[in-house]
Amino acid sequence: MTGARPADRAAELADRAVDLGALPADFAWGTATSAYQIEGAAEEDGRGPSIWDTFSRVPGAVDGGHTGDTACDHYHRWQGDIALMRELGTNAYRLSIAWPRVVPGGDGAVNAKGLDFYDRLTDGLLAAGIEPNVTLYHWDLPQALQDRGGWPERATAEHFAAYAGLVAERLGDRVTQWATLNEPLCSAWIGHLEGRMAPGWSDLTAAVRASYHLLLGHGLAAQAVRAVRPAARLGIVNNLSTVEPATGGDADLAAARRMDGHVNRWWLDPVHGRGFPADMREVYGVDLPERPGDLATIAAPLDWIGLNYYFPQIVTADPAGPAPFARQIDRPGVPRTGMDWEVDADGLETLIMRLHEEYGDQRIHITENGSSYPDTVAPDGRVHDPERAAYLTSHLAACARAARRGAPVAGYYAWSLLDNFEWAYGYDKRFGLVHVDYATQRRTVKSSGRRYAEIIAAHRAAH
Ligand code: FCB
Repeated sequence: MTGARPADRAAELADRAVDLGALPADFAWGTATSAYQIEGAAEEDGRGPSIWDTFSRVPGAVDGGHTGDTACDHYHRWQGDIALMRELGTNAYRLSIAWPRVVPGGDGAVNAKGLDFYDRLTDGLLAAGIEPNVTLYHWDLPQALQDRGGWPERATAEHFAAYAGLVAERLGDRVTQWATLNEPLCSAWIGHLEGRMAPGWSDLTAAVRASYHLLLGHGLAAQAVRAVRPAARLGIVNNLSTVEPATGGDADLAAARRMDGHVNRWWLDPVHGRGFPADMREVYGVDLPERPGDLATIAAPLDWIGLNYYFPQIVTADPAGPAPFARQIDRPGVPRTGMDWEVDADGLETLIMRLHEEYGDQRIHITENGSSYPDTVAPDGRVHDPERAAYLTSHLAACARAARRGAPVAGYYAWSLLDNFEWAYGYDKRFGLVHVDYATQRRTVKSSGRRYAEIIAAHRAAH
């Protein structure tokens, strides 16, 4: 192989040792993106502003002052991007719909041109043999709804359901795989408690109320989609972490239990019909805006569950910190990605098994998994990213191990198809299997992308 570095070779050899035979023949081999991170065209064809358009303009909120105004210009380049998906050999694609493109004011008037875009995209994907898996909310709340209180208000959940229903009505004759929310944890905790994401609040009461209304919105949206498209296959996408105490001491053990409640159980228990965890209600000490029937709505039956996995959490007690009074510590000497996130593929296997064994999930999609490294285009015109290839391979191997242990792993969507707008980190964090030169919008498939294509082809050939 010309241009391959020793590290490339090592990763290639590691690949050969990976046995993906346990993954089913109809496995969804995908990539994932989200609207605000790739589309650009922020003011085109009637799109309204979202909370990320606002937040990215707050001085200091996003590294480099970057915004999603242009991003990967996917709005204009989607056909070429579908061609890239074909080049990778994928048969599935997880995208999100921009609510402010479809209903610019959050509720009320529908923007036909916004819906038309997703209509064309859907047809283009299907013509290419790629099944869309559509997420209805990936953090880009219409600013107009934020101005009326945002997710801490119940009305936002109701407007979300109305929007979900009309998107399903339009696309549901061709799209069957739907996710309501992406990572409500980030919307609620990072957006309303830690203030590092839109809308940038630091208010525990608002955060807990937002968490409740996000999950209520999930349940109402599930009902709305099913009402117009009974054949829809519905899921929700959560980002979960394995949580380990830093020491065996009681304080750290209790901290780990709280962190597990904060990042995992708070989001999983209600949608699995178990209600909100009592220990965490006590930790937060905030009354939930409950109404009779809500818990049943939130626990709407689902066809699949989406797991986004990036890193494990090793935690210690932090009594002076914000809820959940626990914080992550850095272990020295472990491999980390460019986000400074610890690499631990075993954690993915553990979480898949937990969803299957503890929550009884019957169909699990890995809806995101990936790594950021500071890639550059080499003089030979290629992007050599052996670390990402190794990350990809080791995490796919973890999926296969879980499948061998009986877990119903149905698909894997690599985050991400393209380098893109990485939220508060701007464009400097690159997660793509395809490199994007933002000055020219030129795309270059990285060596990890080629590795993914080989893995997919090998799996296909074996079945
Ligand atoms: C997840 C988000 C996704 C992307 C990755 C790196 O939390 O869902 O949009 O930013 O992290």
